[in-house]
Amino acid sequence: NKIAGLKSVKIEGPPALTLYQAPGTRIYCRGAQILMQDAIDNLEVYPEDVWVITYPKCGTTWTQEIVWLVCNNADTETANAVELDTRFPFFEYPFINRRPTIRKMPSPRLIKTHLALPVLPYQIVEKKPKIIYTMRNPKDTCVSMYHFIKMLTPFNYKGNFEEFAKEFFMGVTVGHGSFWDHHRDYWRLKDEMNILILKYEDLITDLAKEVKKIAAFLDKELTEEQVQTIVEHCTFKTMKNNSASNQSHMQNIGFTRAGMGDFMRKGKIGDWKNYFTPELNNMVDQLNKKYLEPEGLTFDYE
Ligand code: A3P
Repeated sequence: NKIAGLKSVKIEGPPALTLYQAPGTRIYCRGAQILMQDAIDNLEVYPEDVWVITYPKCGTTWTQEIVWLVCNNADTETANAVELDTRFPFFEYPFINRRPTIRKMPSPRLIKTHLALPVLPYQIVEKKPKIIYTMRNPKDTCVSMYHFIKMLTPFNYKGNFEEFAKEFFMGVTVGHGSFWDHHRDYWRLKDEMNILILKYEDLITDLAKEVKKIAAFLDKELTEEQVQTIVEHCTFKTMKNNSASNQSHMQNIGFTRAGMGDFMRKGKIGDWKNYFTPELNNMVDQLNKKYLEPEGLTFDYE
């Protein structure tokens, strides 16, 4: 029935693995993934769950690695030995990360998702698990996404940055809907749900401070030494060289293409300046004014 329902929904963008949220509905998947809709809606949620939720390219992998270490006494040995996606599975892509099913994971479960707020499992509202939502400024997110999308085999994206950026900011090129809605929806929850909001830019500026913030939110006590261990393990350079956390397995399973750069690309604030024309910059500033600034949400761009 759900598949039949999709016939009336206009879905734009490239086919295959893209996730789309049809406006005003909970129909979010296309292709094979429509079959997952029930699994998404009706997941049994526990209050002890820890969900890392992000719009793609906002620092998901980084946040996951930190959160995993905070929850596991800074056990870098296991973090180096076991792939992050196995330790911290990606909810809506079970076939990519070959993870044990989330249902069977021991509590507290650590779960990653990019799902927009309106399509989270129903029980999230009543069970109130811990949610850590990492945001990133829209300009750097767009640049990061452009490089990532070119790596992705199913997209086979051939457009230039200018073309990509216009579509990205209108929310049509990539899955998970609009950057603006995604950020705004979760930001609005900050006083209602059990949610910690982080910013990529703050992680860059003072990682130790953010590690402590995460530990406090998760009721974990860390020694100063453990905090330092986590900080050192989670620098860009260390994570890039760590095959358990640099997402290189995506290439092994054919999801990304060789020769198109690394998932761990630059890890900086401000790379957008190498890509944005004054016109595009102006457009994004206007969108920021329209969607995020009235909510009191601003970012660092330098
Ligand atoms: P860039 O493409 O700008 O380098 P996600 O995990 O949500 O897909 O986000 C990927 C982005 O986070 C990439 O950004 C990647 O380099 C960056 N990133 C991942 N780990 C990082 C780290 N330890 N320090 C800084 N940036 C990191």
